[in-house]
Amino acid sequence: MKDVINIGFIGLGGRGAGMLGLLLQIEGIRVPAVCDIIPERAERGIDIVESAPECDYTVNSYLDYKELLDKEKLDAVVICSTWISHLKIAVDAMKKGLYAAVEVGGAASVDECWQLVRTAQKTGTHCMLLENCCYARNEMALFNMIKKGIFGELVHLEGGYRHDLRDEIVLGRENQHGRLKNFINRNGELYPTHQLGPIAKAININRGNRFLTVNAVASKARGLHQWIKDYKGEDYDLYKTDFQCGDVVTTLIKCAHGETIQLNHDCCVPRPYSRDYLIEGTKGTYMETFEGEPGVIYIDGQAKKKHNWDDFLPWREKYEHPLWKEYETSGVKAGHGGMDYLVLSAFAESVKEGKTPPIDTYDTASWMVITCLSEQSVSMAGAPVPVPDFTDGYWIEREPFPRGKYCVDDVCEEFFE
Ligand SMILES: NC(=O)c1ccc[n+]([C@@H]2O[C@H](COP(=O)([O-])OP(=O)(O)OC[C@H]3O[C@@H](n4cnc5c(N)ncnc54)[C@H](O)[C@@H]3O)[C@@H](O)[C@H]2O)c1
Repeated sequence: MKDVINIGFIGLGGRGAGMLGLLLQIEGIRVPAVCDIIPERAERGIDIVESAPECDYTVNSYLDYKELLDKEKLDAVVICSTWISHLKIAVDAMKKGLYAAVEVGGAASVDECWQLVRTAQKTGTHCMLLENCCYARNEMALFNMIKKGIFGELVHLEGGYRHDLRDEIVLGRENQHGRLKNFINRNGELYPTHQLGPIAKAININRGNRFLTVNAVASKARGLHQWIKDYKGEDYDLYKTDFQCGDVVTTLIKCAHGETIQLNHDCCVPRPYSRDYLIEGTKGTYMETFEGEPGVIYIDGQAKKKHNWDDFLPWREKYEHPLWKEYETSGVKAGHGGMDYLVLSAFAESVKEGKTPPIDTYDTASWMVITCLSEQSVSMAGAPVPVPDFTDGYWIEREPFPRGKYCVDDVCEEFFE
């Protein structure tokens, strides 16, 4: 057990800057090295670390992450760069014996997911996907209810990333932001894990269950074109761009134990945000409604009125996850309602204790791979594509997961007073 760990921070766009500030609020964290390929952003990283009250050390900045890995003595890296660079950087860091944490996004290729898994197996280090939604208050209460059998046996789950990002995508060059190139060149479920993470944990993926096949279909791509016409005008150079990514990409995943999952990727038409969480089991259903609202629930025999939804809020209060009960008492930190701090704390604890993180390398690979598999399926008009078994069969007989406060495989009540 280490009381203090040294973390290198790679990728300092909007997200990286925010996550770095939060990371520095966790006890026992030093960030002696930061990196971004854009010099001002690397410098901004230094400013963020040096302005933290605990900073009594020198911070080095790098433009090349490989140089950072070669020169610095670290325990771990946190990677908040672009989707197609996350896993390549993680593999290089793990080859140096470091723990890696990667921000969310899909994988660029199946092969890079295999490289990640094989590197973890060879080096004994780990890569944790920073899937903050696994630590969201609603999702954690629902997970608690699933484990207590309130929904019965789960049969179908849905989730999505419905987020109107038209300006963020189109203005990618002006704002030096990574999404644009992906929407110009790729057609698939580009951002699967916000809801797939909580879903995978709810149905024991990689620990007794696994994803079998992916079928994905994309709508036509018109939303970005319309936004450019309305907000930038027809003279704007991207007006004639043929964006490849369908405005709404619908992906179906079939699991070994029969569950079906539907994912909705929807970032290019005007609409309010939603992660679309839907849980259907033999005893009841939960459905997300609007952003910021707890959603609605229907539990067989317990609904106030048959065939009518009940408000989820009283259920959430009753089944609040103990981690959230504790967090509410100690003071919720900023960052998407508090979940960002929890996911970083989970990673930090794993590094300090030298244990497998709650979202491990197999989870990271099998959640991220859905992106490149969905691209293959979309290109074949929705034909099924098999999902690799990154555990090489061990999903039916894995070693026990580490129990702890931040565990998302079970609710470990024994860690809370
Ligand atoms: N979990 C969440 O809720 C959440 C929210 C927002 C963004 N994100 C994710 O965080 C990541 C970053 O998002 P962002 O909005 O800051 O994107 P961004 O494109 O604005 O920033 C990425 C940064 O990484 C840098 N970079 C790219 N390649 C690099 C390399 N090889 N070495 C070092 N630096 C490199 C870029 O210069 C840029 O500054 C993305 O994967 C995004 O999907 C997650």
